Amino acid sequence: MEQDNTSEGSKLSMQDKPLNETASNTNAQHPNDKGSQQTKKRPVVVEEPRLKQSLKFWFTPVDSAFEWYQQYGDAYSFHPIASQAIDFLAHPRYIKSIVGQHSNFQTGEGNAKLGGFDSVFGKKSTVVLDGDEHEKRRDWIKDALELEKVLPALNAARVDVNEHLATWQPGQPMELYSEMRTLATQLMCKVVLGMQGEPMKIMANELAELLETAITPQSWLIHHKAKLAIIDKMLYSNIAAKRATPGDDVLSRLIQAPETWVTAEDIHDNILTLVVLGHEGASVTTAWALYHIASDPAALEYIMQDVTYIAESDQLTQEKLNNTHHLDALIRETLRLHSPLIAIQRMATCPVKVGEFDVDAGQIVCPSMYLIHHNKEVWGDQAGEFQFDRFEQIKRPDPTMFLPFGIAPRFCPGQHIGYAEIKILLSDILYKFGKRIKPASNWQPLTRRRGNLLTPYENMPFILN
Ligand code: HEM
Repeated sequence: MEQDNTSEGSKLSMQDKPLNETASNTNAQHPNDKGSQQTKKRPVVVEEPRLKQSLKFWFTPVDSAFEWYQQYGDAYSFHPIASQAIDFLAHPRYIKSIVGQHSNFQTGEGNAKLGGFDSVFGKKSTVVLDGDEHEKRRDWIKDALELEKVLPALNAARVDVNEHLATWQPGQPMELYSEMRTLATQLMCKVVLGMQGEPMKIMANELAELLETAITPQSWLIHHKAKLAIIDKMLYSNIAAKRATPGDDVLSRLIQAPETWVTAEDIHDNILTLVVLGHEGASVTTAWALYHIASDPAALEYIMQDVTYIAESDQLTQEKLNNTHHLDALIRETLRLHSPLIAIQRMATCPVKVGEFDVDAGQIVCPSMYLIHHNKEVWGDQAGEFQFDRFEQIKRPDPTMFLPFGIAPRFCPGQHIGYAEIKILLSDILYKFGKRIKPASNWQPLTRRRGNLLTPYENMPFILN
């Protein structure tokens, strides 16, 4: 199984690289620059065979990103096989530059081409669309995702979380990340799809198996297509049920929304998108947060009052969730050190300048939150360390330096639900088990790639004392 250095490796990898030291290949002639004598300033090109670049980035994305950063600076261009060249950008000034001229970039086409999202979610998913088609679906979804509307279903779903936690046996080896995936998927099946009981558990299992092979070369296998067909059948029958009897779930709100352009395909593709994106980031983040809390008694002490407050509240309100600042700080630090994505991508729609570089129409640029979050110039000498109270003083992190949820205008519309999910899972687990959760003693805090995600190596084995 592929593995990659994350928290520990990063301490070494980002050392001593001055932020303003930018290696650039100023003489490179851009392929699109046919007749012009004028040279364009381009990021330095990674000088390794393309097959090697592809394998390194596929199997060890974090290690290769750090290695190339050390070698080439905070902007470099690499070129995997079966893809176009990608400019990898690791400085807040590039984020500022892209956000400042966001209308010159699009995201959907690249998400489909590079991320393969359309083969899982479908062609009407908001993540693979651009322009007006994207905007209208995004507005439709955002409205249905308002926290106040989602809270009743989230509150109800806590019963299932606690039921699942009651099955944890002391002394029995488990995988913390797999457990968080199960819990977060079940939460999203309830909140987004309004499913419960056995059908919800079956759906959560099918999704977990599908995502094991999604967006990898195996996704061409018959097994994968068969899984997708089972999920589609369940989704369409659930959509029919909600049309007949609406509930307090996101799906019912999407069906009832006044938009006239909405087709059955729109509904299917976007609820699948929400269930998948809605559990992936939260499960990675909760697993890493639990790992750090288990490794440092002071971290547990720091959040215990908030944990008790949430765990003892049967009905969570927006106000209660807003009143847990220590949990917010600890979750932010986890998202900083272990952002579930290494980078987001944007495709230029016309020739533009990004920072000091010339970018042609069609060029893909990838702002890397992972590298920015580990940069000592941005986060200080302890950038590679987990400091549970780092965000105590940083109430409004600069969005060019802290971007686990991406950047405008594609910024994650489920951010508030993500925080609520993580708070619920952390609180219900820690209230029940506190210091009894112990990561396996020989486990190394590394990551592996799973689809487009960076997830804990070996699913983070742990034991309950
Ligand atoms: C810790 C949890 C989460 C993390 C770290 C996360 C992160 C992200 C990131 C990095 C993006 C890409 C933004 C960009 O390109 O600039 C994104 C997009 C998106 N996320 Fe999240 N997300 C989380 C939770 C959620 C939840 C709970 C939902 C919904 C229930 C959700 C729904 C979406 C959707 C629909 C998009 C696509 C937005 C668009 O294309 O305009 N996410 N998320």
